[in-house]
Order: sequence, then structure tokens, then C-alpha cells
Amino acid sequence: MRREYSNAPLDETALAPNPLHQFDTWFKQALEVSAMEPNAMHLGTVSRDGRPSLRVVLLKGIENDKFVFYTNLKSGKAKELANNKACAATFYWPELARQVRIEGDVLLIFINLRKCLPAIFQ
Ligand SMILES: Cc1cc2nc3c(=O)[nH]c(=O)nc-3n(C[C@H](O)[C@H](O)[C@H](O)COP(=O)(O)O)c2cc1C
Repeated sequence: MRREYSNAPLDETALAPNPLHQFDTWFKQALEVSAMEPNAMHLGTVSRDGRPSLRVVLLKGIENDKFVFYTNLKSGKAKELANNKACAATFYWPELARQVRIEGDVLLIFINLRKCLPAIFQ
């Protein structure tokens, strides 16, 4: 169950100084290799009693250096984020043997008050 990743070593000295630029590079590479759902990220939130939960959401874009996703205002994640804005996300592109980890605070932007809660976090 364990693969060898020796053909995709991570040379830290070759990484972009700005992690967003590095994300952009890898995201484009993921698109080039037709990665399955390259914009899918696992989003972690925390409940009132400190219990973490994860689910997949789709990245809608990066705006002003912030990762944007949409969700329903009534969803569990929206309620948890309303109570505790701390969140984390990971992208995983198996075709590239790469993951990106993000930690930050969510910011809420209301575009469609009836349906969606676009959220950005930095
Ligand atoms: C591939 C994939 C993409 C998804 N994208 C989103 C999304 O962009 N926004 C969203 O709210 N839920 C998305 N979901 C559903 C969530 O994973 C989750 O099941 C749902 O939002 C309810 O989660 P919650 O109860 O923790 O709020 C996606 C699920 C999958 C499998």
C-alpha cells in the first residue's frame, strides 16, 4: 500500500519564495496532467467542542491571495466557521506526488444570500 515517490523528490531550494506562486505552478501542472478534480481540497473546520471535521470542497479561484470556495449558508461547515473561523485545507495531486497544506482564518463574503456562502481564507 506504500508507493515509492523517489521519482518526484521535493527540492526545497527550487520552490518559489511566495507559496502562492508555488501553488500556481503545481496547480497548472495538475491541469496539464489532467489530474482528477485538481481544484478539490479537503477543508477542515472545528466544532464548538473542538472536534475537527473534514470534507471536500472545490476551489473556485484565488482572489487577492485568498482561496475562494462556495458553500451553503445552512451547511455544517458554514455553521462551524461562523462559530470558529479557523480552518485548514489540503490539496493532493497524486499524479504529481504533491500536496499543499493551508491554514488560516475564513472570511465570509455574501454573494447570494439565499443560496451560497462564498468563503475565502488566507
Ligand atoms: C468532489 C466534491 C466536491 C464538492 N464540492 C463542494 C463545494 O464546493 N462546496 C460544498 O459546500 N460542498 C461540496 N461538496 C460536498 C461536501 O464535501 C460536503 O459533503 C457537504 O458540503 C456537506 O458538508 P458539511 O455538512 O460539513 O457542511 C463536494 C463534494 C465532493 C465529493
